[in-house]
Amino acid sequence: MMSELRQQLDQIKADGLAEIAAAADLPALEAVRVKYLGRKGSVQTAFEKLPTLPKEERPAFGALANQTRDALTTALQERKALFESAGGPRGPKLDLTLPGRAPVIGRPHPITQVTDEVVRIFRRMGFSVADGPDIETEYYNFDALNTPADHPARDVQDTFYIEREKGVLLRTHTSPVQVHVMEKQQPPVRVVVPGRCYRRDEIDATHHANFHQVEGLYVDRNVSVANLMGDCEFFFKQLLGPETRVRFRPHFFPFTEPSYEIDLNSPALRMAGREWLEIAGCGMVNPRVFESVGYDPEQWTGYAFGMGVERIAMILYGIDDIRLFYENDLRFLRQF
Ligand code: DAH
Repeated sequence: MMSELRQQLDQIKADGLAEIAAAADLPALEAVRVKYLGRKGSVQTAFEKLPTLPKEERPAFGALANQTRDALTTALQERKALFESAGGPRGPKLDLTLPGRAPVIGRPHPITQVTDEVVRIFRRMGFSVADGPDIETEYYNFDALNTPADHPARDVQDTFYIEREKGVLLRTHTSPVQVHVMEKQQPPVRVVVPGRCYRRDEIDATHHANFHQVEGLYVDRNVSVANLMGDCEFFFKQLLGPETRVRFRPHFFPFTEPSYEIDLNSPALRMAGREWLEIAGCGMVNPRVFESVGYDPEQWTGYAFGMGVERIAMILYGIDDIRLFYENDLRFLRQF
């Protein structure tokens, strides 16, 4: 009697282990568990034979039945853990007919696009590209550009100071990079400088505390106002089309003499009902600026300009509010 039951238990254990090993997924494994270890499973049924045995044989049989149950339980847990960690021995179910997920492709910000286009045109005209720090000193932002501390031009370019006493500030224009470039390099110089600028301006549809400029500087022998005007006109026609018209209005900047503001009139502007739009400042480099970088003003002349990138983008795309550029609203940005 006992040996027969013993054989039965051995068989249950062997069959159970084989079925556990063969279970292909978690539901199949659960079915095996119910079949062997459930309330009406084979192990329980074997246990129920216990009272039919003579008293002396019961402890040995009980121990064997427990061993069988423990062996199956351990094997089940191990296999279950395997499925849960690896997503099943055959990996996750894969539907090869599903369409792929389209990755979201970004694009350069409209300000970056316009900056790149401006730089591309000037590169074709023989300019190289320079860069300078956003955090400047009063010396580079003002003094070296012939704008001493008591100069009224400082009022219209009020800025954010990092350290007021040390004169460390956020640059109000890209013009200080002219000085950095000339300090490092002897003439001839022909650079454009794209970059971010800051001013303590009241924010409205056309002003922001943070905006972008492209600065230009050309120094050589015999550079004249004719070069300045011809090059600027050529540039704007390249950028906005051959029907673009350019106007130079006399103006004042401390770092140029004479100085002009450049106004634009393009088909896009005319369509929007606008006449002339101020787009840039420019002029012939003031000899005082050459002196502050150690260039000889008797030998060298040059022109310089600075233009607002947002302004250009607004004309190009017909945008009427500068704040749209900085709100990071994808409905706006996706249009470019
Ligand atoms: N820095 C001037 C501004 O931000 C623009 C400008 C005017 C730049 C004349 C120049 C220049 O290089 O020659 O208003």
